Amino acid sequence: MDKLIIEGGVPLTGVVHVSGSKNAALPILMGSILLDEPVTYTNVPDLRDIRTTFKLLELLGCPNAFENGQVTVTPGALSPEAPYELVKTMRASVLVLGPLLARLGEARVAMPGGCAIGARPVDLHLSALEKMGARFDLEDGYILGRCRKLNGAHIHFDFPTVGGTENLLMAAALADGETILENAAREPEVVDLARFLIACGARIEGHGTSVIRIQGVPRLGGCTYRIMPDRIEAGTFLVAAGITGGELLLRHCPFTELEAVILKLQSMGMDITATPDGVLAKCGCPLRGADISTQPYPGFPTDMQAQIMALMCLADGASVVEESIFENRFMHVLELMRMGAQIKVSGHTAMVRGVSRLTGAPVMASDLRASASLVLAGLAARGVTEVRRIYHLDRGYERIENKLNAVGARIRREAE
Ligand code: EPZ
Repeated sequence: MDKLIIEGGVPLTGVVHVSGSKNAALPILMGSILLDEPVTYTNVPDLRDIRTTFKLLELLGCPNAFENGQVTVTPGALSPEAPYELVKTMRASVLVLGPLLARLGEARVAMPGGCAIGARPVDLHLSALEKMGARFDLEDGYILGRCRKLNGAHIHFDFPTVGGTENLLMAAALADGETILENAAREPEVVDLARFLIACGARIEGHGTSVIRIQGVPRLGGCTYRIMPDRIEAGTFLVAAGITGGELLLRHCPFTELEAVILKLQSMGMDITATPDGVLAKCGCPLRGADISTQPYPGFPTDMQAQIMALMCLADGASVVEESIFENRFMHVLELMRMGAQIKVSGHTAMVRGVSRLTGAPVMASDLRASASLVLAGLAARGVTEVRRIYHLDRGYERIENKLNAVGARIRREAE
C-alpha cells in the first residue's frame, strides 16, 4: 500500500487540467454491454475503478484496449457473471445488471457489499427491474436475475438514486415499449450516460429532470463518445486553491454543474470566475465559515462534503455540515482532528469551529473523498502530513500528486 508525504504551507498557483469524470465513465463503459458494434470512448480517466471496469468487461465478453485516455470496447459473446473478486472492490459493478438483463435475459452479479460510507443497498435497482419483468434470487452472495424480455414500465423511485436511475436507463433502452422513470436522479453523470445511449441509437427524453421517458429500440450500435469532465475532481482543486491561499486556473472545468459548490465557496470568500481559458479560483482571504446540507443534484453534492469540510477547518467562525445522503460519511473527521481541527459530530451533523492553523500528522485514508479531504488539509497544514492507504484516493483521482506538484505542492509517494 502506498502513502503520500505532504509538506504543507505552499500557496498553489498555476494551471490544472481536469480529467474525464469517473462517475460518468463507469456507467457509460458498462453501457458497452448493450451494443452490438464496437465503441470508442475518449477522455477516459486512468483510475483504479476504471481499470477494474475494463477487467470486468473483459470477463463479460467485451474485450477492450485502453491507451492515452482512449478505449475501444468490442462487445462479443456475453457471459452473465460479474464475480465477487471484482465486485467487492467496486460497488459500481452492480451497473452491469440492467445491461445484462437487457441483452442476455440473465445476470449473476455478486451482491455489492457495503463500504466505509454506508450500507449502500441496491433494493431500489431490483424493485424497479422487477417492474420491467425481471425476477431475482439471492444465492451464495450473488444476485441471480432472469427475464424472458424486459418490458417498459412506469417506475417511481422512493429516492432519486444515481445508480438506480443509470441501471434502469440502460435496461429500458432495449426493452419492449416505453419506460417512465419518476423521481429519477438529475446528476450530470446521468445526463452524460443518456447522451451516450442516444448517440448509440437510444430514444430518451427528460434526462436531467426528475421524469425520464425511454422508448425501447431493438438494437444499439457503436459510436465515438467523449466522457464529460469530472466535476468532483474539479471541485477538489477549487478547494485546493482556497485552502492554500493560492490561485489556480482549471481547464475543462464544468461550471454550471458545479454551481452549488461554487456558490458555497464564494460565500466563504473565495473568488471563482469563469474565463475563456477555464475557471479561475483565488482565495479571497480570510475565509468565512458556511453551512451545507448534502442533497441530490442540483443540491450540494455529498462527494464534495469531506473536501469543503477541510476548508471550513481554517475558516473564521463556525460551519455546520449535514450529511443527508450517506449514513457514515464523516470518516475524515477524526483524522482532521489529529491535525488540530475542531469538529464535533452529532448524528448526521458536524459542527466545525475554524482554527488559525492545522499541523501535519500521520493520518489514515478510509474512503475516496475522505482521502482527498486529508490531502487538502495536508497542503495547508504546517509541517509534514503522511496520508496512508491512498489506494482509496487512486480509485477516483488520476495521480493527484503529479497535478498538485505541477502547481507548487511538495508531495511524494512512498510505498508503505
Ligand atoms: C453514486 O453512488 C456515486 N457513485 C457516488 O460517488 C455518489 O456519492 C452517489 O451517487 C450520490 O451522488 C458512482 O456514480 C459510481 P445512490 P450510488 O444510489 O449510485 C441509498 C464517489 O465518491 N440507496 O444515489 O451508489 C444509498 O444507500 C462515489 O465517487 C438505497 O437505499 O448512489 C445512499 O444512502 C461515492 N437503495 C443513497 O441512496 C438503493 O437501491 C444514495 O445512493 C440505492 C441507493
